[in-house]
Amino acid sequence: MKNEIAFVMNKVNKNFSSGKQLLKVLEDVSLEIEEGELVALLGPSGCGKSTLINLAACFEKPDDGQVLFMGRPITMPSPQRGVVFQSAQLFPWLTVKQNISYGLTLQKQKKEIIEDKCSKYIQLVKLEGFEYYYPPQLSGGMQQRVALARVLIMEPRMLLMDEPFAALDAQTRLAMQQLLLSIAREIEPTVLFVTHDVEEALFLADKVLVMSRLPGRIIHEVKVPFQRPRPISLIGSTAFSKLKRSILALLNI
Ligand SMILES: Nc1ncnc2c1ncn2[C@@H]1O[C@H](COP(=O)(O)OP(=O)(O)OP(=O)(O)O)[C@@H](O)[C@H]1O
Ligand SMILES: [Mg+2]
Repeated sequence: MKNEIAFVMNKVNKNFSSGKQLLKVLEDVSLEIEEGELVALLGPSGCGKSTLINLAACFEKPDDGQVLFMGRPITMPSPQRGVVFQSAQLFPWLTVKQNISYGLTLQKQKKEIIEDKCSKYIQLVKLEGFEYYYPPQLSGGMQQRVALARVLIMEPRMLLMDEPFAALDAQTRLAMQQLLLSIAREIEPTVLFVTHDVEEALFLADKVLVMSRLPGRIIHEVKVPFQRPRPISLIGSTAFSKLKRSILALLNI
């Protein structure tokens, strides 16, 4: 049975002006994401991927077209659509636990609720034992896990992830991809995941949207046929390599 549609972009255009010049960044972008679906947005540098995420988060507004979440136009940023950026952007003066509980503390949630949720999400991102560390005392991968837990603790219905693992070394990156897959299995969030890495897109996603160069348009939609759970060995398989080659061809690389 088909799931409900959680997120929609309908004929979205977005331009930026710098000086006298108008830059067409997104042109006629339409997409749909089902509840619980993990969609990867793949495209060359500068094609408008972060702009699209910013529109989904409502950090920016479209010039034309609609952005809908659970059937309603979005009007403001919301913890229901949690954003994870390429750099963790943690508060360096707060501990891991304080960073993760920051949103709930702002909401003035009860202490016991904060404690319970903190333990749950610290466990989920495998940071037990590091609760009282400060961000500069953590590795890049650990910082990114704090950033992920800080968003997950708000129990968002959707995750907007803008190249969240791009700054990590290959091994840590793979570990983070596996962690995301295990979290996705457990809490089934709707995910829009931006990457310029074809392997990452194919390893994670149910569906890959391929963007053109500027002005950014969605030029292909590729259903990813691999079953879950996905073992690392999938990446070396013939079917995976074949699909990777066909997407690289679409990207003209
Ligand atoms: N606030 C802004 N004002 C003016 N131009 C902008 C603004 N934000 C983005 N742009 C322009 O929009 C284009 C797309 O930028 P965007 O950051 O969305 O690309 P991207 O696909 O995320 O690139 P990358 O893969 O390098 O992160 C770029 O040419 C950029 O200069
Ligand atoms: Mg970007």
